[in-house]
Amino acid sequence: MTHALVTGSAGFIGSTLTDRLLADGVRVTGVDLFTDYYDQALKRRNLEGAAKHANFSLLELDLGEADLSRLPDVDVVFHQAAQPGVRASWGREFAAYTHHNVLATQRLLERYKQTKLERFVYASSSSVYGDAESYPTSETVLPRPFSPYGVTKLAGEHLTLLYGRNFGLPVAALRYFTVYGPRQRPDMAFHRFCRAMLAGEPITVYGDGRQSRDFTFVADAIEANVRAWKGAKPQGVYNIGGGSQVEVMEAIALLEKSLEVKARVNFEPRPAGDPLRTRADASRLAQDLGYRTTVGIADGLAAEAEWARSLYGRVR
Ligand code: UGA
Repeated sequence: MTHALVTGSAGFIGSTLTDRLLADGVRVTGVDLFTDYYDQALKRRNLEGAAKHANFSLLELDLGEADLSRLPDVDVVFHQAAQPGVRASWGREFAAYTHHNVLATQRLLERYKQTKLERFVYASSSSVYGDAESYPTSETVLPRPFSPYGVTKLAGEHLTLLYGRNFGLPVAALRYFTVYGPRQRPDMAFHRFCRAMLAGEPITVYGDGRQSRDFTFVADAIEANVRAWKGAKPQGVYNIGGGSQVEVMEAIALLEKSLEVKARVNFEPRPAGDPLRTRADASRLAQDLGYRTTVGIADGLAAEAEWARSLYGRVR
């Protein structure tokens, strides 16, 4: 039976990927530290299904510190664990970003560099581009992060690629463009909006709300992981996006429809580190991995709204 290691397996994308792999008949060892960056109960909840599965086991450890010879030899590694959050990576917090995003990645690569892997898939980020030089942004554009977080994700990506080149490790990096959908992290925009709107509280919009993102539905990000495992080109770097470019205020209008709640909006200044725009050139994803994202923003937001209702109840 194929055996996968999923780091960050209790998180938003890691847990969704874990469920998909288990459903596909893959044995999964999950790794998670359950940091307190957000409510740990949400992470436990993400793993409820997997925890009941005979082919799932969980290791709670810090990849930046633990003895990684404890990790099993596996066929494929999906390295999803990270200290996330674009706007929170300033000041003293930066130490957590270098620890979890750079050191942890280097230690994981050391652990697996001499093993026979089908693939080491690194979860990178559109944050490596910052305010990009051109749109839609292709993988060949010079990365120029705009946040300290983006710098650490880019460092992790470079480490992954250089271990690939030095040791013949079959690696791939997936640059996710603002992934959303059920289980989205509670610090991310749509989750915050849903929670506040369902509680009848005001939401906060940064800047004038006309900043845009290439929002990517979680199922599309998961499919890209599976395809990268099976078919990435050597040292392949892929934008995972291309679904829909939407301004924040447009997304709020869609959420109002799905939740049947009118949003009360407080505007706050645009925070440091927050790019005005992201947009993926997804042609490499199509060419190499034969995939185009399939879920549009209206359907994707409806699914996230439905999930948020199940979490927070409904106002009506
Ligand atoms: C997201 C993830 O949080 C990062 O981990 C990931 O690396 C990144 O996507 C990426 O694509 O690389 P972000 O785009 O900031 O980062 O995602 P959201 O938190 O969903 O924010 C989307 C937009 O909504 C931003 O422009 C932000 O300014 C805005 N926003 C966010 C608000 O107006 N109000 C809020 O309360 C939160």
